[in-house]
Amino acid sequence: MDLDRLVNVDDFHAAARARLDPMAYDYYRSGALGERTLAENERAWGRYAFRRRTLVGVADLDARTSVLGSDLSFPVMVAPTAFHRLADPEGEVATARAAAAAGTVMVASTLATVALEDVAATGAPRWFQLYVFTDRGLTRELVERAVAAGYTALVPTVDTPTIGIRDADQRNRFVLPPGMELANVTRVLGPDDARSGSALRAFSAQFDPSLTWRDIEWLAGLCDLPVVPKGVVHPDDARAALASGAAGVVVSNHGGRQLDGEPGTADVLPAVVDAVGDAGVVLVDGGIRRGTDVVKAVALGAAAVLVGRPVLWALAAGGQAGVERLLGLLRDEVLDTLRQLGVPRLADLGGAHVTRHP
Ligand code: FNR
Ligand code: LAC
Repeated sequence: MDLDRLVNVDDFHAAARARLDPMAYDYYRSGALGERTLAENERAWGRYAFRRRTLVGVADLDARTSVLGSDLSFPVMVAPTAFHRLADPEGEVATARAAAAAGTVMVASTLATVALEDVAATGAPRWFQLYVFTDRGLTRELVERAVAAGYTALVPTVDTPTIGIRDADQRNRFVLPPGMELANVTRVLGPDDARSGSALRAFSAQFDPSLTWRDIEWLAGLCDLPVVPKGVVHPDDARAALASGAAGVVVSNHGGRQLDGEPGTADVLPAVVDAVGDAGVVLVDGGIRRGTDVVKAVALGAAAVLVGRPVLWALAAGGQAGVERLLGLLRDEVLDTLRQLGVPRLADLGGAHVTRHP
């Protein structure tokens, strides 16, 4: 694969589609049910337009930022996604190395195909995404392992009482291929279940549907890491998160893979930013495909964005080098957008720089 010929997320997507096993491709691509939210996520960024300033002097650009103690070379992080070894034999290790090379952070998924300790051994800056099990002892064990392995923030996912219904996965009877397993939870499921075809469903059955903000309070008390619940879209839930000890929230609908029929995250971000105010950080994901989307998100008050599928496409297209190239392209686009917009420093970006399309 000549990575130099891939110049945007659509190119990476096409290259990935050509290389991936169809069952894996469908799993990565799919959204829940009619995939309306999946489509809305991308569309919603397009409903904002820039208000450009001119002749402000844009010779020196700076897109760096810092989120909960993690330095970012530009405001894009790697979203937690499951099963990276479906895309590349090195799996999450390749993704983590690429994120580090690009000067950003990987949020490693509980459902990784490489154990969290092995991802940590790359030395890459890392946060840990947590699924909360019905068995709190097992949950605590996972948190303790993440702390011991040097993860610097905890991201409990709060939009997944159970895994959403995705037509293609049902049709395909999605299974992990032989030799791949839910490496973090082999101990939880037992090696047979962790490897078996039903691994995802077996694991999902252990997600706790009785989860409430009390449990987030419990998590926040378990360790010193900042806790950033992922999957908040309602301002009242953002307030509840902060009241439960969270350091902020990730505005997310899980890339349209859970409740179908929600608005795009760009449409709900401003109300959450208002609710959180100065009391925490707001991150956002869903449908971020270009540097312009990133800059719009930051102008609307997000500290940074996360990208999910684009990273999986890049991993499938070119492994670590593919993800490095994708993140590099996104960074170039962010810098170019800041320059064209007349905002040399990310910190100067604000609500004055975007407007809703009429
Ligand atoms: C996800 N996502 C996800 N989220 C999470 O908290 N834990 C997980 O294990 C996964 N797994 C996962 C697998 C795949 C294949 C996808 C596409 C997504 C959701 C992810 O973190 C993020 O919210 C979305 O992917 C963001 O939307 P985009 O960038 O894919 O449009
Ligand atoms: C998914 C789960 C694993 O979206 O988060 O497939």
